[in-house]
Amino acid sequence: MTVPEIERVAVIGCGTMGSGVAEVLARAGLEVHVLVSSAPSERAGRGRLGKSLDRAVRKNKLTESDRAAIVDRIRFTTELGALEDRQLVVEAIGEDDAAKTALLRDLSKVLRDPDAIVATTTSAIPIVRLARVTDRPGQVVGMHFFNPAPVLPLVELIGSVLTTDETMARADHFVTDVLGKQVIESPDRAGFVVNALLFPYLLSAIRMVGDGTATPEVIDRAMVKGCAHPMGPLALADLIGLDTTVAIADAMYEEFKQPLYAPPPLLSRMVEGGLLGKKSGRGFYDYSENGSR
Ligand code: 3HC
Repeated sequence: MTVPEIERVAVIGCGTMGSGVAEVLARAGLEVHVLVSSAPSERAGRGRLGKSLDRAVRKNKLTESDRAAIVDRIRFTTELGALEDRQLVVEAIGEDDAAKTALLRDLSKVLRDPDAIVATTTSAIPIVRLARVTDRPGQVVGMHFFNPAPVLPLVELIGSVLTTDETMARADHFVTDVLGKQVIESPDRAGFVVNALLFPYLLSAIRMVGDGTATPEVIDRAMVKGCAHPMGPLALADLIGLDTTVAIADAMYEEFKQPLYAPPPLLSRMVEGGLLGKKSGRGFYDYSENGSR
């Protein structure tokens, strides 16, 4: 018997990644449930989505009427039970091992469809660790989008040692044919493929700021103008979020014990000081109203 196409989808969390993934799903014509923890989280999530959609309209990637239809397809809820009929749930909360484990354990009890897939956008936690706490370890995958998710075409798909081939094939078909993204399959190793290459570069740039080699502005200009990168490494770290950057670096350092993955002291101190990058208004750059960005 063939498993039905995935049509009923949900995203958990509406932060930087969750709002981007919700937008991608809704833009693909799907009705999306978005589970948030509170009314303020919903307000913030709606704000993020609105800003991104406005930008897409400004860039002529979206018409005003498409924008309205996309917003209409997104339903917010604070009740986990509202996800019971979903065929795919993409978990996109912060990189907190205990929080993700507890959430996925509860989620798997709620899902009624025995074929439902649980996907996680984690960049830092082994997929198998999250899969094991669910009632369906064979149907848990990593679905790693890149920020900003509505713009960047790649998705890394990660199967754990417990994921079934059928789940991988369904997830691949969904991401490729329904979402229109490009898939690469990555092993369940810290950093997968992209971050294992990207992070040593970002962390080196932060070390260069820390040791006074050059300012963020100079380093970023060097890479944008000298290497044609769309943005420099410090602006990119701010976009990713410096707390997320530390979490990913920590995970890779723990797994491989190589100094090139160790979070530089400047990065750790900035996070401890609440400077989390674009999302908090300040990181290597100032994003406040009076700031330079
Ligand atoms: N919706 C749709 N399209 C959009 C858009 C939106 N909201 N915003 C921008 N675009 C399109 C533009 O129309 C343009 O497309 P075109 O070339 O076909 O005209 C393209 O995106 C680029 O836009 P711009 O040239 O206007 O430049 P922007 O300043 O808007 O681009 C950016 C912003 C896309 C963020 C670009 O700077 C970029 O690609 N930066 C690098 C981001 C990156 O490397 N992300 C990966 C982070 S790593 C990660 O996420 C993994 C995690 O685990 C850490």
